[in-house]
Amino acid sequence: TPRVFSGVQPSGGLTLGNYLGAIKRFVEMQEQGLETIYCMVDLHAITVWQDPAKLSHATRELCAGFIAAGIDPERSILFNQSRVPEHAQLAWIFNCVARMGWMKRMTQWKDKAGKNQEEASLGLFAYPALMAADILVYHATHVPVGEDQTQHLELTRDIAAKFNHDYGVEFFPLTESVIEGAATRVMSLRDGTRKMSKSDPSDMSRINMTDDADTIAQKIRKARTDPEPLPSDHAGLAERAEARNLVNIYAALAEMEVEQVLAEHGGKQFSAFKPALAELAVETLAPVSAEMARLMEAPGEIDAILDRGTERARAIAAPILKRTYEIVGMVGA
Ligand code: TYM
Repeated sequence: TPRVFSGVQPSGGLTLGNYLGAIKRFVEMQEQGLETIYCMVDLHAITVWQDPAKLSHATRELCAGFIAAGIDPERSILFNQSRVPEHAQLAWIFNCVARMGWMKRMTQWKDKAGKNQEEASLGLFAYPALMAADILVYHATHVPVGEDQTQHLELTRDIAAKFNHDYGVEFFPLTESVIEGAATRVMSLRDGTRKMSKSDPSDMSRINMTDDADTIAQKIRKARTDPEPLPSDHAGLAERAEARNLVNIYAALAEMEVEQVLAEHGGKQFSAFKPALAELAVETLAPVSAEMARLMEAPGEIDAILDRGTERARAIAAPILKRTYEIVGMVGA
């Protein structure tokens, strides 16, 4: 039976990219009646420096974001990674299965470590092994993510396959990534060749889930575009990264096909399309951010939800870790 797992880092606030590329999809999979497990990956966040107070705040805020977006903590399991020690325990086993060369090829490692690899944390290097453990400690079969996670999910399959091969078992499943919809890669509002990211130094490059209506409208009004009107079909967006990005965002927010958006708005100037997009964005995001703010006023409720999620997650993870230890030959497992 399918089991869905995904994680989001509580490193800074949620962006429209996280919301459309991931969390909205998480809700859809929950609504399909699948078994869904969603995690705030605090252990991943600290692979780069996090101020402790900000990390706690961001973890609770992320939990509020999940719930505000429609994750039901009864139907889905919602928890933070550090509370379920089986993740870190399985990650150690995977550190011994994965090869240095695999890790060195990861583009996220190259991007985040930059020129000064000697100064990057060991955790940042091993990041993908912990991510594989997140998924495989539940024997998850499907992982909804944005496009930037493709390489990590391929590595997760490689680790599962190598473990199964080395120990002569068919224990870990080869997990499938689920990368679907119009917003698998939401781009910066300032530069259509770069991903929208919480770490971009320019706040104008992204929409934050906590932005108010005026800020959202202003960011969309100022978004970079070319001078041509919108094309009337998909092919007309091929060489127009910024235009394509705004149309994709519109489609994802409105839950429409890109072709449908262009059928309605093709031929319009951006001076007409941007206000329509801003209105749609405010209308869609305002209830989510209002609910997030409301939930953040009751952090006790959030913590109780995470307590319960932790228990339910451990009930699945503990037997799988135990079986892994037995396969590996740990005495007393
Ligand atoms: P993170 O925290 O960077 O992002 C969380 C999710 O949001 C997606 N995303 C985007 N999608 C579309 N456009 C964007 N601009 C955009 N920016 C972010 C990401 O693809 C992701 O799905 N390594 C993961 C966290 C993780 C994880 C896991 C995910 C840890 N363990 C196990 C899945 C399964 C990450 O850094 O996501």
